Amino acid sequence: MIPFVNLTGQREKYRFELENAEQAVLDSGCFIGGPQIEALENELSDFLGGCHVQTCASGTDALTIALTALRLQPEDEVIVPDFTFIAPAECVAFLGATPVFADIDRETLQISPESVRSLIGSKTRGIIAVDLFGQCAPFEELRKIANEHGLWVIEDAAQAFGATVREAGNASKACTFGDISITSFYPSKPLGCYGDGGALFTASKELADKMRMIANHGSSGRYCHEIIGINSRLDALQAAVLRVKLGHLSEELPVRQQNAQKYDHFFTVYNRTAPDGQKILLQKIAPGNTSTYAQYTVLAEDRDSFIGKMKQAEIPYCIHYPMPLHKQPCFSKGNEQLCPNAEWASKHVVSLPVCAFTDVIGIIDKLIPNFQ
Ligand SMILES: Cc1ncc(COP(=O)(O)O)c(C=O)c1O
Repeated sequence: MIPFVNLTGQREKYRFELENAEQAVLDSGCFIGGPQIEALENELSDFLGGCHVQTCASGTDALTIALTALRLQPEDEVIVPDFTFIAPAECVAFLGATPVFADIDRETLQISPESVRSLIGSKTRGIIAVDLFGQCAPFEELRKIANEHGLWVIEDAAQAFGATVREAGNASKACTFGDISITSFYPSKPLGCYGDGGALFTASKELADKMRMIANHGSSGRYCHEIIGINSRLDALQAAVLRVKLGHLSEELPVRQQNAQKYDHFFTVYNRTAPDGQKILLQKIAPGNTSTYAQYTVLAEDRDSFIGKMKQAEIPYCIHYPMPLHKQPCFSKGNEQLCPNAEWASKHVVSLPVCAFTDVIGIIDKLIPNFQ
């Protein structure tokens, strides 16, 4: 059976390095904090060209810590994309504030700056933009809007650690676009550990100090608690695994991108002869952007038929995401928001296997008989 994300193939390739790193932690007796965490935070910072890094227990915790550091209050509103994983909206609501759902661009599937602009009101405090499926959100426009209205921006790069955007001749990296940026190290993410994990990134020392306190019971030093915080720690074993995988990320990302191009080619050729109503639309990667392809997601006009073909070929698939967030039961009461592009996307998206250890040519060979 083809795995949706081939984590065992990845472990096989790095087994020697991983086992050494894991054993060293187990033998060290230091499982929380310590040199592995410090080294990982430094290496993540170096990868991003230098910024403050705070590791924590998950991407969801990272969002909660970021919102807390930005002093989110119950009367506040935060604009979030309507089409993504629930975490950004959930964290806003969990802290008692109100998520306001912005529609997406129909081609890139990213949060739409026009929709964001239309939703800004007197209670709006900030924007959480998600780097959906591994491509950075349109931060240049979002920043402009945020600056005009005195809002903060959180970049949710849970799916995009390693993605780039070409700006003025330079490649800027995901996790550098927000006042605070976050990522997730959930195992299937482009940079994943063997459990839950996450990290926060910022250029602001003040925010970094605050986030470090919040993640450590609000403490500035041992048993001195300045503010109310939580316990959100990445453990040393996960840090050791991440350090090995981070060392290989720059080799893996081009392979993920080549795998995505193989699918692109296959579906582009298919579309030339596809019967009416059966076209497969590809997520547009904006010029100058590189995606981590956390997901390779297409939009099938007739999704049931597409899924039938995937099942026949025994290729695993996922629906990211089957419902716009404003329609989720926890948000839908009295929510009359209109996000037609998010609704449309949720009815047509299908994700295919695409990590650096996925045999995409083998998958395409299996699909060919069903796509003729
Ligand atoms: C866009 C996005 N944000 C946040 C999260 C939450 O990350 P975690 O599962 O590490 O809490 C995820 C996880 O899938 C995600 O995709």
